[in-house]
Amino acid sequence: MSAIKLEDVTKSYGGFNAVDDLSLEVKEGELLCVLGPSGCGKSTTMRMIGGLERPTEGDVHIAGQKVTRQPPYERDCSIVFQDWALFPHKTILENVAFGLKMDGIDRTKRKERARETLEMVQLDGHENKKPKELSGGQQQRVALARSLIVEPHVLLLDEPLSNLDKRLKEEMQLELKDIHKELDQTMVHVTHDQSEAFTLADRICIMNDGKLIQVGAPPDVYNNPKNQFVEEFLGDTNFLEGTVVETASDEVVAKTDLGCHVDIPVTNRQAAPDEGESVSISLRPENMQLRQSEIQTIKADGGDTRCTASGQVDNVIYRGSMTRLYIDTGSRTIFVEQQYDPDREIEEQQNIVIQWDPKRLVAFDNEETQFTTVEN
Ligand SMILES: Nc1ncnc2c1ncn2[C@@H]1O[C@H](COP(=O)(O)OP(=O)(O)OP(=O)(O)O)[C@@H](O)[C@H]1O
Ligand SMILES: [Mg+2]
Repeated sequence: MSAIKLEDVTKSYGGFNAVDDLSLEVKEGELLCVLGPSGCGKSTTMRMIGGLERPTEGDVHIAGQKVTRQPPYERDCSIVFQDWALFPHKTILENVAFGLKMDGIDRTKRKERARETLEMVQLDGHENKKPKELSGGQQQRVALARSLIVEPHVLLLDEPLSNLDKRLKEEMQLELKDIHKELDQTMVHVTHDQSEAFTLADRICIMNDGKLIQVGAPPDVYNNPKNQFVEEFLGDTNFLEGTVVETASDEVVAKTDLGCHVDIPVTNRQAAPDEGESVSISLRPENMQLRQSEIQTIKADGGDTRCTASGQVDNVIYRGSMTRLYIDTGSRTIFVEQQYDPDREIEEQQNIVIQWDPKRLVAFDNEETQFTTVEN
């Protein structure tokens, strides 16, 4: 049995589908991150799970029960919103105990449970303060404690960390992960921050334009993106544009706007494009190696270079442990990322050769569907 099951759910507002025929199952104890650009329907999906919106079509199930028409208070779930929505005039203890008051639990027991929950989110000692006396990160934890105290079957978190600065955000991500592990709590966490999704998620669900595009474990969606949107959304990359000039059973060769021919391994010949068709090839900046230009390049038949390009370093950007280099190949610029190495510093204007392993690229056909790796 799934903790949450959405069945062909659509939410329309005056003919516009904010969520469009979405089906999804969240397993018991799973932490699922919903990731997607602004306006793609993440909050609307959460609100339908939580009962704050009713689907125009389709059904919502929680813990095996159909709850599509049930009001929020009859659903075994709790939502933490982006703005936390704390009661400003109540103390932290009262804020956290509030959910239990609604459940009719007596005062002494409420306070005891609220204290325990505050301890879990590391806020013991702050019981008698008002929300405005706490930092953003602390207020966020109060909101979390207030939702956890009712022991919901499903905890829904709608961008609860987006108002925090980078460091605090990362700290809270780890805390959320710990709480998830400790309680085995089913959580659905909405974010539009890829690194947050990669830090937290057991599985990532990627949405665009109201539709579910792909759902899978973080390495699966990163290494085996369903389409070009997913590849682009999950991290910076170089897209080479090309045309197929040769096909074989296990690869296609494309002539690209980088000047060189690129070998694209394919696992399913049926799904790969034919000669003359256009392709986009994604070369992630971390999947390329750089060599000094005097090192011999790989020559293919006819003297053309394959899976390699030479150029001149235009820009070197230090990003702490990583260095990003922009390389002008004459036909276009490619960016490459490398671990910073003080013994092998690369300088601007230096001539350089870029190489990559064909196994480390993914390519997309003219409908933006990925055809290089095996179906999940
Ligand atoms: N009550 C409403 N009436 C009309 N349109 C709405 C309503 N609620 C949401 N929408 C529209 O539905 C789409 C999806 O909105 P939603 O809030 O789910 O996006 P989101 O993915 O959560 O975005 P963000 O990352 O900005 O929070 C948007 O285009 C939004 O304008
Ligand atoms: Mg939203």
